[in-house]
Amino acid sequence: MPISEKVRKSMAEGSWIRRMFEEGAVLKQRYGEKNIFDLSLGNPVMEPPTEFQQELKKLAEHPLPGMHRYMPNAGYAETRTAVAEQLSLETGIKFVMNDIVMTCGAAGALNVVLKTILNQGDEVIIFAPYFVEYLNYVDNHGGVPRILPADEQFMPKLDVLEANIGAKTKAVIINSPNNPTGVVYREDLLHQLGEILHKKESQYGTQIFLISDEAYRKIIYDGLKYSSPLRHHRQSIIVTSHSKDLALPGERIGYIAMHPECSQRDELVDGFIFCNRILGYVNAPALMQRLVCHLQSITVSVAEYQRKRDFLYNHLTNVGYSVVKPQGAFYMFPKSPLEDDVAFVRELQQLKVLTVPGRGFGAPGHFRIAYCVDEQTLEGSVAGFKKAAQKFGPG
Ligand SMILES: Cc1ncc(COP(=O)(O)O)c(C=O)c1O
Repeated sequence: MPISEKVRKSMAEGSWIRRMFEEGAVLKQRYGEKNIFDLSLGNPVMEPPTEFQQELKKLAEHPLPGMHRYMPNAGYAETRTAVAEQLSLETGIKFVMNDIVMTCGAAGALNVVLKTILNQGDEVIIFAPYFVEYLNYVDNHGGVPRILPADEQFMPKLDVLEANIGAKTKAVIINSPNNPTGVVYREDLLHQLGEILHKKESQYGTQIFLISDEAYRKIIYDGLKYSSPLRHHRQSIIVTSHSKDLALPGERIGYIAMHPECSQRDELVDGFIFCNRILGYVNAPALMQRLVCHLQSITVSVAEYQRKRDFLYNHLTNVGYSVVKPQGAFYMFPKSPLEDDVAFVRELQQLKVLTVPGRGFGAPGHFRIAYCVDEQTLEGSVAGFKKAAQKFGPG
């Protein structure tokens, strides 16, 4: 057997997103790409902001000496400083360069953090529905995911959290705005979450890290202001990227930001830098670091995403779907009209609309729609959603 049993098993269990992608590819071949309305992937159709192209052009026309060489594993000082300044503005907490490590996307950041903090068998709490790769990433570094349910509004159930933290709990991962639901955590919830973590740290004499996955932090609607969990827990670590806010997922650029007031900050950041190297990332892409350094205050058009959210939310609710209204990111997670979400997603496929079953995110009975698509795809999908609702009734 050329590949390990563990990898073979993980591949066989597979990701539902990938499975839907493959089934969708067959449909596209049969009916033509433009006749299939693909809402299965969080791969933004938007181009990066024009400022990105301008910076790219500047750098191409005026290359810097040594700009393609190895660099310190944490990243360029100039970029880390720019990130720290922007985060200080957004959170009101004073970050400096030494709190930041540039990474290969948010995925790289998560792996570096988990590699640094986990001992074999340590538990990492994750709320369902979740970004499915969390399970693989925790497992990559010898951790054990402990999955807890969210409530009807997709908010963490804090009493369940409190009851499930034990001596082995090393970290809690939160993700707001959330993939797959689009919900945004309120300040009071984050405050209570922080209180629970402090109480449990004292009870067990442990440190519990709050890992805040902020991949969608800047894509937030209805004039809401982002509430930073760092204001409620000092042992907090931000992992994020510019995959979504600058529409650069293929460029693999992100960062880790350690709470500046965390005890043992220097030791932790040294650990991140070391793990960035030994996981084989070595450092985040040089060219992208040079570019995003000047783009920290720039974001893709959030208004455009909000328009898409409104369009789809109105259509779905008008024909009877039960949907928690997303306040950020670019996903919706309606209730499946059929109890079996896979069967419903397959019905939608027959109507030429591609989505992902909720069980792929640890929440059966729902399905995920990624609306980071062009107008034609979004508008084209509406007829299929309507027909399915008429056939099966509301969820
Ligand atoms: C919640 C969440 N975290 C992390 C990632 C990974 O982001 P990146 O592509 O920057 O590694 C994604 C990507 O879709 C995501 O949805």
